[in-house]
Amino acid sequence: MKTVEKQALALRAGGVFSPAAPIRERDVFAGRTDQLRSVIDAIHQKGQHVLIYGERGVGKTSLANVLEPFLAPKGKTHVIAPHINCDGKDDFASIWRKIFKQIPLVDETPAFGFRGEAKKTVTSLGQDLDGEITPDVVLTIAHALARKNLFIPIIDEFDRLAGKEVTQLFTDTIKALSDQSPATTIVLVGVADTVEQLIAEHQSVERALVQVRMPRMSRAELVQIVRNGLHALGMTIQAEANGFIATLSQGLPHYTHLLGLHSSRLAIDNNEKTVRVKHVEGAIRKAIAGAQQTLQRAYHQATISPRSDNLYKQALLACALADADQLGYFAAGDVRTPMSRIMKKPYEIAAFSRHLADFCNAERGPVLERIGLPRRYRFRFRNPLLQPFVIMEGLAHGMIKRTDLTRRNNHGA
Ligand SMILES: Nc1ncnc2c1ncn2[C@@H]1O[C@H](COP(=O)(O)OP(=O)(O)OP(=O)(O)O)[C@@H](O)[C@H]1O
Ligand SMILES: [Mg+2]
Repeated sequence: MKTVEKQALALRAGGVFSPAAPIRERDVFAGRTDQLRSVIDAIHQKGQHVLIYGERGVGKTSLANVLEPFLAPKGKTHVIAPHINCDGKDDFASIWRKIFKQIPLVDETPAFGFRGEAKKTVTSLGQDLDGEITPDVVLTIAHALARKNLFIPIIDEFDRLAGKEVTQLFTDTIKALSDQSPATTIVLVGVADTVEQLIAEHQSVERALVQVRMPRMSRAELVQIVRNGLHALGMTIQAEANGFIATLSQGLPHYTHLLGLHSSRLAIDNNEKTVRVKHVEGAIRKAIAGAQQTLQRAYHQATISPRSDNLYKQALLACALADADQLGYFAAGDVRTPMSRIMKKPYEIAAFSRHLADFCNAERGPVLERIGLPRRYRFRFRNPLLQPFVIMEGLAHGMIKRTDLTRRNNHGA
């Protein structure tokens, strides 16, 4: 490849892999068939609303972004789907103001005289909306909009709303809308393990609120992300290298994009159009070096010690490699096998239980959170994005090898 060609391709790689931004276009969106179907079905069902919830970074916003092309307006003229983010300062009224501000109002003044052109003025529905915004006001506006349109307000980062009162107002609004304005679907999106964490009195709207949990992405979906991206660049990847990226990503598509981006650029720099394992290895070093400050700081704080023979790094790596349940929780017993593998000799729980306890203290972040009762504690990473980072650190510093990652934990050290 010529230098200009290489540069152009490397730049285009930055367009197909987007570790820092939610997906906006359908053709780079991978998998998620079941979740998409549930949301679209709910929108087409009269009187149903949707709550999309899951861990941080699993792809909730991306799913909400690609809904529109799938929606059949069914006798309605337009799909109106404003997508807004909540912040800690928002209340019920300010959220709806943001939503209504995104809805354009076009005013046409008829043409004057012979050659005059009609004058169009575009304002927004939110422009002149003074006074209090109560569930009743929302209901009236939604009703008017939904007469001719499919009205789908998407309210993202719903978890950032503080307080029961605001979410109670949303529960009331959903109840009233589902009775009175069936062509409106509110889509709530937020970080949570359970619905209760997001919405007060959710039982009272259970029938009207379809709950769509976003799990971590499957290996097949992660592999598809890389394949789609490289295909758009006219490149390919060895199955082993793509599997390696999927393993490292731990179901979190941010890392799939990040490693896809760095490894394809390394291949391009090397004049190759096929991404190989060695490119992924190079990408790991780049990913660590360029990782968010918050991750680097969290890792440092969790593992720092004045004693050079301390095992905090090894113990945290073993936690990152432990078999976890759907919500990311693991028990001390699950850490034993990876810890023994890292230390290259059998390690019993007693040898690292102090580390686990320390990881739950503010002094070390806390990097882990703990639930349950003594002797039955379950742990997980407070920030799920730290887990792949810890594994990449372990690989980059030779604490584990790539081949260790593919061995199942349950089958011996
Ligand atoms: N289905 C998908 N196909 C390809 N890439 C995806 C998909 N879903 C998410 N991603 C990518 O994963 C990363 C995280 O996605 P997104 O921002 O949508 O997650 P989120 O759950 O909304 O995160 P947060 O909890 O931080 O709001 C982004 O880089 C995005 O491009
Ligand atoms: Mg999001």
